[in-house]
This record gives sequence, C-alpha cells and structure tokens, in this order.
Amino acid sequence: MSSVLDLARPELRRLRPYAAGAWEPDCIRLNANESPWRLPADKSERGLNIYPPPRPFALRAALARHYGVGEDELLVTRGSSEAIDVLIRGFCRSGVDGVVICPPTFDMYRLYAGIQGAEVLAAPLGESDDFELDVDRVVAAAGHGAKIVFLCSPNNPTGGSFPKPSIEAVCDALAGRALIVIDEAYHEFADAGHSLSLLRKYEHVVVLRTLSKCVALAGARCGALLAPPEVVEFLGGVLPPYTFPTPSIELVLAALAKDSLHVSSERIALIKRERERLAAALIDLPGVVKVYPSDANFLLVRTRQAQAFAETARQANILVRLFPSDPALANCVRITVGRPRDNDRLLRAVAGVESIDEP
Ligand SMILES: Cc1ncc(COP(=O)(O)O)c(C=O)c1O
Repeated sequence: MSSVLDLARPELRRLRPYAAGAWEPDCIRLNANESPWRLPADKSERGLNIYPPPRPFALRAALARHYGVGEDELLVTRGSSEAIDVLIRGFCRSGVDGVVICPPTFDMYRLYAGIQGAEVLAAPLGESDDFELDVDRVVAAAGHGAKIVFLCSPNNPTGGSFPKPSIEAVCDALAGRALIVIDEAYHEFADAGHSLSLLRKYEHVVVLRTLSKCVALAGARCGALLAPPEVVEFLGGVLPPYTFPTPSIELVLAALAKDSLHVSSERIALIKRERERLAAALIDLPGVVKVYPSDANFLLVRTRQAQAFAETARQANILVRLFPSDPALANCVRITVGRPRDNDRLLRAVAGVESIDEP
C-alpha cells in the first residue's frame, strides 16, 4: 500500500468535489439566492439568512488548537456520529467491504455499516468479566474483508478503556490492511492517556472526539475526526458542503473560550467524583451483582433483575438504559452519572429493589 487512501472507495477518490460559491463575508451576497433580511427572532452573530461557510473554517481552527493537532488534520462533523457515517461511506464499498466492531459496543457502527451495505464483522470483547479487547479476534475478523476497525475506548456501554498496548497491537497487525478508528467520545472522563500519539505513529489511525459529553453540547451536534491530512481532505470531499449550522458554530466557539472550558473541566471533575461515589453505593445494594470499572460518564451495572431496577427508577421519574436485545448485557443497566442530587435520588429509589434470585 503506498497511501492509506488506497483503502478508500476508488470511485469516490475520482469524484469531482462540489465547487462552492465565493465566501467573502464583507461582500454583498447576490450569488447564493439567500434572503437579504434577518428574521426578528434571529439573534445569531452571523445571521441565519446567510448560509454558513461551506466548511466551518473558524471552528476547525479553534478545535485544532483545542485538541493539539494541525488544522489539516481535523474534520468538523455533526456529532461524532457523522464522522462514523462518513468514514464508512468513504471506505466501504456496498456488498464488498466490511467493518469490525467489538460488541458490546456503541450500536451506531452497526447501524451506519448496515445503511451503507457494509458487512459487520464482530470480534466480541472477552467473556471473562471486564470485557477486555481480544486482539487476536479483532485481527482474525478483519481478515474477512474489513476496511475499518472501530475501537471504542472508553467503550460504551461497558465503560472501560482498552490498554494502549492492545490498541497498538491491532494497529501493528493491520497496517496497510484497514483503517483503525479509535472512538474517544468519553476520553475526557478517563484518567488514562489518549490516543493522539498513535495518530503520529501510524498513518492508518483515526481518532474521534465529540463535544456532546465533556462540554455539554449534545444539542449542538459537534464532533471532530482527527486523521492524517490526506484522509481529512478525502473525507471532506465526501461530506456535503454547508452542513454545519451557524448557531452550532457560534455555540461551539463560545464553549471553547477559556472561561467556559474552565467550567467544563470543573464539571468533569465532579462527574468523576460522583461516578466513584455512585459505584461504591450501588455495589452495596442487594439487587446489584457488579459495577464495572468506568472511565466514562456512566456506569454499567449488572443487576439481579434489570427490568425491576429500571421500573423502580422510572417510578422516581428517572430513566436508565437497558439492553434487552444483547445477551452479553443480560440484566445490565447503564446509568449516566448525574448531578449529586440526581444520583442521590436514584440511590434512594433503587435501594428498595428486592434482591430477587433468578428462577
Ligand atoms: C462511543 C460513542 N461514540 C460516538 C457517539 C456519538 O456522539 P455524538 O454524535 O453526539 O458526537 C456516542 C454517543 O453516545 C458514543 O457513545
């Protein structure tokens, strides 16, 4: 393989990119069939009567500074969900190529692969109880035509991070054969290091980040795909222009200001303390069998009766997540760490769940 892009869909590499109209903010815009007036309700800085820039350049610069990568190494996406989608669309030919996933994991990899017609090749996490990454299984599964391997670390919904040596072993084994996508949606809640050093080491590594969790902007839909410049440029051509909305650009720029980041980091620290407090309290409950170690802003809890646990929480007006269609997560409940008073309320509610032995 001479370039990582040899793994990409060849017909897309030949696709002529869309030529966007000139984007010069100080000119009168009679080139884009927009309205010349703002709505009275439009309080945005830029004006919502005007299309956003074809790519959010200012945001890309701010995010690149934030993550410590070059601007040409970062693609802004609508949530990291869109990054997953564009990767699969860019690299997997329908009916021909596949993606490796390590279940139980984030279900959107499976969904986007299915939408693209890419085969889903499963390399389940180890059965021994902490859901460890099985490197040999991943490499074997990739041998069946995978173009992408998704490694979610910290993993949703199990909560743990994969050891860096295991991730590196996958990268070494599959160099030149598949793109390794490390989804770090929850990285800010982990104590362990991140995978950015792997971006420097390998040309076939992609790292995904999101502002949905750590800076409280799930509603603004902002993610970042970090990759070698040729991968970013190629995927930028697969994404349609003008998709990143002006209100989101303005909100995310505000979220990346120093004062706002300070607030976010204090909240992250609080969530991490609450995670440990909640874990310690949950494990003492009669209906709880195990609380998995977590590097994320949630806990995976194995209970005796997940349905009863969830219903009891629901009666206290609290929603938790069940996984009824995944046998590996039978009787598991995923609990997002909330504010201290939310966590107290949950603990009070589920303290009453009976320890019911399974029939
Ligand atoms: C592991 C993982 N990756 C990606 C996402 C997508 O997040 P978003 O599209 O909000 O950035 C999520 C959302 O829950 C997630 O858990």
